[in-house]
Amino acid sequence: MLDGKKVLFSGMQATGNLTLGNYLGALKNWVTLSDEYECFYSVVDMHSITIRQDPAELRRRARNLLTLYIAAGLDPEKNCIYYQSHASGHAELAWILNCFTYMGELNRMTQFKDKAAKHADNINAGLFTYPVLMAADILLYQADVVPVGIDQMQHLELTRNIAERFNNIYGDVFTIPEVYLGKVGAKIMSLQDPSKKMSKSDENPNGSIYLMDDPDTIMRKCKRAVTDSEANFCYRDEQPGLKNLIDIYSACTGKTPDDTVKEFQGRGYGEFKVAVGEAVVSVLRPLQEEYARLSKDKAYIDSIIKANAEKANYVSSKTLRKVQRKVGFPDRIR
Ligand code: TRP
Repeated sequence: MLDGKKVLFSGMQATGNLTLGNYLGALKNWVTLSDEYECFYSVVDMHSITIRQDPAELRRRARNLLTLYIAAGLDPEKNCIYYQSHASGHAELAWILNCFTYMGELNRMTQFKDKAAKHADNINAGLFTYPVLMAADILLYQADVVPVGIDQMQHLELTRNIAERFNNIYGDVFTIPEVYLGKVGAKIMSLQDPSKKMSKSDENPNGSIYLMDDPDTIMRKCKRAVTDSEANFCYRDEQPGLKNLIDIYSACTGKTPDDTVKEFQGRGYGEFKVAVGEAVVSVLRPLQEEYARLSKDKAYIDSIIKANAEKANYVSSKTLRKVQRKVGFPDRIR
């Protein structure tokens, strides 16, 4: 609890271009949740360097992502929107939690195995302990809920285990966080291969709609989206391409999939694809305009970065000091 509200923590990496899937599946929900919870939304730049990055590029992308959080509707006066690297407690708590995490636990993490296979030339210790840093992110703010995708569930489970282990030894230090899974239907699949999630790292750019795509590009990608030859307007798993488009349309218009099916029953896929394109454009256009406006206001963004770094440090240092005392580090002399 912070100021009488439950605490929410989540973060995204500033690598790759965010897609419509990231927006509909995560960012848009974050905005809704921000009324109910005291929220910390981090740009997790420290996680990014587990894979080699170009420094200038990382810095640019991190700022763009932070700006995008605000453009998407997160009020930076109410929500703590900040860079992970600006609150030193993340690294400090991660070290301590490393000493309460077993090699065997980290060895089981499927994301580590996947990333190690993909980056076989750079299997660094940071990649291995990535989930411990993530646990530190969450526990540092005593988060009650953590909205994440299914792919992060295993990391969240580990976070809970580490927190419980620590609490068993030292008493109630950490809040045990719950996962908050977004609504079903918000999982957006690739337009070219509806068996795969729409991803910012897809090699085929036609599979993903990027948040900064212009209207023509969005329309073209929607028109080319893979469907089927059944010519039967249904919302069902056997027609995954169409189902995905119905999900996108529904999420963008606020209609239910059933309403969408009724609306387009008996009409051609071609017509529907145009309607999907238009719906996406009308969701992304205001976002892009706000993003462009904010990006030009350097002084404003800088002031947000400064103020929220202070807030993050203030809140997180309380947990950190408590943990440091518990494990036996000497008191600071003031
Ligand atoms: N690992 C998460 C991802 O790749 C990002 C992340 C880092 C995160 N720390 C977090 C998400 C804490 C939620 C809470 O998506």
